[in-house]
Amino acid sequence: MSAGFLSVLSQAQRYVTERVQGGEPVIDATTGNGVDTLFLAKLSGPRGAVFAFDVQAAALERTRARLANAASAGERLARVELLLAGHEEMNTLVPSEYHGRIAAIMFNLGYLPGADRRLTTKTDTTLIALVSALMLLRGGGLLTIVVYPGHEGGDAEASAVEQWASTIPPMIAQCVVYRFPQKNASPYLIAIVKK
Ligand SMILES: C[S@@+](CC[C@H](N)C(=O)[O-])C[C@H]1O[C@@H](n2cnc3c(N)ncnc32)[C@H](O)[C@@H]1O
Repeated sequence: MSAGFLSVLSQAQRYVTERVQGGEPVIDATTGNGVDTLFLAKLSGPRGAVFAFDVQAAALERTRARLANAASAGERLARVELLLAGHEEMNTLVPSEYHGRIAAIMFNLGYLPGADRRLTTKTDTTLIALVSALMLLRGGGLLTIVVYPGHEGGDAEASAVEQWASTIPPMIAQCVVYRFPQKNASPYLIAIVKK
């Protein structure tokens, strides 16, 4: 039996797993329901730290509960700072001692299914956040961005992110796109490794 390729979200986690060591600080730029936040908290581990951003208090509350459940089930998690703020503020909200030391930063753009669709990520602030993210990473650190060309407004945001990534000088970072070309409107992944 032939197995299919990994989903875009699983591929993002795989790239991150390959590059983050226990104890390293990481960032979830779009916390949402906290699936990636919990994944990062396990990976970074008890000596590590996770900074998790979202503009919706309800998203952070759901994530807090998800983390608490995992901890009470015996998972050994990193310290997680849940920040009710836009990721475009990460440069000022992540303490300066972590700048240049972040091992991975995950973005999952768009809106939270079942929540207010107006609270979607927006191209202008996404691009500001990505520039900061690249600066916060350590050498060899990874940026993953899942984009949604099938959402209203998501197509322009996806194109802008891909355009931005394609213009990063190769001496600064290397960029790859993971995409299913038979499903053009489906989400796809842009991953960037800092040199
Ligand atoms: C697709 S969801 C993220 C899903 C999440 N990774 C998960 O595992 O459930 C996108 C999230 O981005 C959040 N968001 C929108 N604008 C934002 C911004 N400027 N900064 C941070 N988060 C933002 C939304 O509130 C929403 O929860």
